[in-house]
Amino acid sequence: MDAFIEHELPELRKHDLCVIANISGNSPEEYATMGKLLSDAGVDLIEVNISCPNVKAGGLAFGTCPSSAAEVTAAVKCASRVPVMVKLSPNVTDITQIARAVEDAGADALSLINTLLGMRIDISTRRPVLRNNVGGLSGPAILPLAVRMIWQVRQAVSLPILGMGGIQSGEDAVELMLAGANAVAVGTAMFRDPYAPLAVQDGIARYLEAHGYASASQLTGAVLPW
Ligand SMILES: Cc1cc2nc3c(=O)[nH]c(=O)nc-3n(C[C@H](O)[C@H](O)[C@H](O)COP(=O)(O)O)c2cc1C
Repeated sequence: MDAFIEHELPELRKHDLCVIANISGNSPEEYATMGKLLSDAGVDLIEVNISCPNVKAGGLAFGTCPSSAAEVTAAVKCASRVPVMVKLSPNVTDITQIARAVEDAGADALSLINTLLGMRIDISTRRPVLRNNVGGLSGPAILPLAVRMIWQVRQAVSLPILGMGGIQSGEDAVELMLAGANAVAVGTAMFRDPYAPLAVQDGIARYLEAHGYASASQLTGAVLPW
């Protein structure tokens, strides 16, 4: 935290952009401490990653239980003066329950989805590919899950949604917006092409023009019912 605030934040501040800090912790107190430090340091928004193990509750992720998700949200809200966005975990039975709990606890926005728990085995060594056995699956494979969960959460809460999960193109981003996202984020696609967000932005603009939309905000939740 100290190194980020001392060295990286000033670098980020040189650009005319909104700085979002993503935090994770092992207890509500840890989350609150980080939220306060970052808020005092002047980030624009705090994104709370609740897919981390709750050490006191046997290591179950905060984001898998409505009450612990709400507890972390309230702790960060109480400690910080900047808006708080909570990043939902897709590794749950009903994501709308968590979304409602987080909204009731005072979150200003939601972001979804985080990675899905996956596993691969190297069949030549018969060992799991990852030392931790399981790990987060991201990228194009998870796009349909992101669309489904954003669509479900859009109907459950009224908070702004930052949508992500498998976006590689403007078309993918438009799909997440039609499902209910107010804005979108690009993660894994940047490993292949660091300029992917710019291509996504251009793709959204082309879609808007081709379909006669004046603004991307008109896409949010505009999916038609069957
Ligand atoms: C290498 C890697 C690191 C990540 N680190 C974080 C993190 O620190 N906090 C977090 O909330 N999500 C983290 N994520 C999840 C991504 O932000 C994103 O929610 C997810 O990968 C789905 O989007 P994508 O398919 O565009 O990558 C990480 C994902 C990857 C692949």
